[in-house]
Amino acid sequence: MRILAISGSLRRDSHNSSLLRAAAELLPPGDEIVFWDGLRDVPAYDADEDREPAPAAVASLRAAVGAADAVLFATPEYNHSIPGALKNALDWASRPFATNPFRSKPVAVVGASTGMFGAVWAQAELRKVLGAMGARVADVEIAVGHAAEKFDDAGSLADGDVRAQLAAALATLRAEVDADLLVAA
Ligand SMILES: Cc1cc2nc3c(=O)[nH]c(=O)nc-3n(C[C@H](O)[C@H](O)[C@H](O)COP(=O)(O)O)c2cc1C
Repeated sequence: MRILAISGSLRRDSHNSSLLRAAAELLPPGDEIVFWDGLRDVPAYDADEDREPAPAAVASLRAAVGAADAVLFATPEYNHSIPGALKNALDWASRPFATNPFRSKPVAVVGASTGMFGAVWAQAELRKVLGAMGARVADVEIAVGHAAEKFDDAGSLADGDVRAQLAAALATLRAEVDADLLVAA
């Protein structure tokens, strides 16, 4: 299984990016996680500019999603919603609507915030957006609240409960991918 990991945070010491790195450490041998780091370079969506060739960062996102068996998002919450940069990138990726690379793609959403609720509203909105794009949204939620206390200074996950939840989320995503392969066979 090849998972594309997308963090909704541009911050260098992002807890959400750390969460994705922790997920990568839990993957069984043979599976891999690829990190997409083009978020910062995606221009504001403009339908007049949405033509071939697409802006480089948009093309890289579309290609990376297309090449992945599944996509794992970790999103912060900004003002109870999805960070604008992430939503903007997904708006680009959602076009052309009928053939967008997220269509039927297994996806899972997790999130971390420094507050007590662990980005639950942002996660819910991200799941809604991904569903609208035609993705197969896995029944996964990991709400890492008080994130500053869950990672050590080097950004390593220091919380066994969250680690167990991440392992379960990866198993759920794997089941979605396996179901996908069965349908395709
Ligand atoms: C503009 C902005 C809005 C925020 N709004 C929320 C919020 O609504 N809920 C919340 O739990 N945290 C909120 N936070 C705090 C973030 O959860 C916190 O900065 C978190 O660490 C960001 O994720 P990161 O570590 O992956 O960058 C906000 C932070 C910023 C910068």
